[in-house]
Amino acid sequence: MPQKIKQLMELAPQGQEVTVQGWVRTFRANRFIALNDGSTLGNLQCVVDFETLEEDTLKTISTGAALKITGNFIESQGKGQHAEIQVTELHVYGTADPETYPIQPKKHSFEFLREKAHLRVRTATFSAVMRVRAALAFAVHQFFRDQGFHYVNTPIITGSDAEGAGEMFRVSTLDPKAPTLNEQGNVDFQKDFFGKETHLTVSGQLEAETYAMGLGEVYTFGPTFRAENSNTTRHLAEFWMIEPEMAFYDLDDNMDLAEKFIKKVLEYVLENCREDLVFLDERFAKEEQAKPQQQRSDMGLLDKIKFVVDNNFVRISYSEAIDILRQSKPNKKKKFAYLIDEWGADLQSEHERFLVEKHFKKPVILFDYPAKIKAFYMRLNDDQKTVRAMDILFPGIGEIVGGSQREERLDVLRSRMEEMGVEEEELWWYLDLRRFGSAPHSGFGLGFERLVLFATGMTNIRDVIPFPRTPQNASF
Ligand code: 4AD
Ligand code: MG
Repeated sequence: MPQKIKQLMELAPQGQEVTVQGWVRTFRANRFIALNDGSTLGNLQCVVDFETLEEDTLKTISTGAALKITGNFIESQGKGQHAEIQVTELHVYGTADPETYPIQPKKHSFEFLREKAHLRVRTATFSAVMRVRAALAFAVHQFFRDQGFHYVNTPIITGSDAEGAGEMFRVSTLDPKAPTLNEQGNVDFQKDFFGKETHLTVSGQLEAETYAMGLGEVYTFGPTFRAENSNTTRHLAEFWMIEPEMAFYDLDDNMDLAEKFIKKVLEYVLENCREDLVFLDERFAKEEQAKPQQQRSDMGLLDKIKFVVDNNFVRISYSEAIDILRQSKPNKKKKFAYLIDEWGADLQSEHERFLVEKHFKKPVILFDYPAKIKAFYMRLNDDQKTVRAMDILFPGIGEIVGGSQREERLDVLRSRMEEMGVEEEELWWYLDLRRFGSAPHSGFGLGFERLVLFATGMTNIRDVIPFPRTPQNASF
């Protein structure tokens, strides 16, 4: 049975015979193959003796080729690695023509690699990012299981708009050229596959709430879709969200859980992805060096992660944040694109970044937002003006979590829905939760890719998901 390079590297080289399989990263001097199998960042050096190997075979070895190698695992004769394989047998599964194989051993730009998204995981950076991503996903499940939460799967095709924002992708089998029309001349969705208008979900929250009202503490971890035309380094049209929902939690309990959760999963990767993070830390440092002095991060990647794990997040109300922003230098000097003038303004990412990166220099939890700028399901405060919402803002990322205590009072919820133009007919089942055994409850959503961005020090969200979906782009 062939071995994984990761496991092999933990063994003492004593000349034992081993077999490995992987892809050639480099082939030097017709003698040294750097082989990588994805199990770990490092390549395994395999030394071929060209006298024992046929010249025809040698010629087919180049960067990108898939090989099976058997040989003796020995202490390395050269510098740079502790062990290597002295090749006795070599089989080429598949060659990679150097004239056409795009991933050559040189620096490729991330823009170039996005166009080769099917091959980019064969680079050191992308393999490191994707291993960290996989480890974070595991840590998410582990955290919630340890806390006694149940994993639930909420629908991807939905008949309701959870956020009431209307930025949804339609799901339909009607003929786009000639859809059936009703008497009013509108598209007749009764003739559509589900007999009604349906979309891809923007959030599993509303369905997760139904499960929290029976299982107590639940979480979802699934894909969500938003047709917002935001061509930024923080937005995807298809992204993964983790949404815990807890019966009997108030907003403080919710914030405590969110903070503990983020710290735990980051701690997990610090402990379990050391090699990849050290590599990404070096990459991050190089990138920072290339920036003008004022824009440079004053911390390295590993330090940034440790800082979040070790320090309490700042918690302030929206109203306090508005006061800080109003008094801030960029506001007074009119440097913000959106000046903060009145209470009630929606915060833009420039404001969020000011609070996190300049003012507090820490993750910040903002709570008690104006009702007007938040979703209908958030619990109304006694002031009748604000709701029990909370957003967690992260350095370099902006909003990473959005959540709230939910409105559990039927009459208040109905009047909020009416105010915000959310139809009761679609959400009769959601209202039922308030009719039968209603209880205080809370939850939040964490954008998984934004977490991966933070943990890997990458700058574009398109580079932390295998195949990004963004406006005008759904290749692969
Ligand atoms: O703040 P949002 O819209 O909250 C909800 O959807 C709630 N239903 C969550 C809940 O309470 N259960 O989205 C939650 C998070 C954001 O904080 C952000 O991290 C991420 O999802 N997010 C995106 N990530 C990538 N691309 C996008 N277009 C995103 N939109 C939101
Ligand atoms: Mg939000």
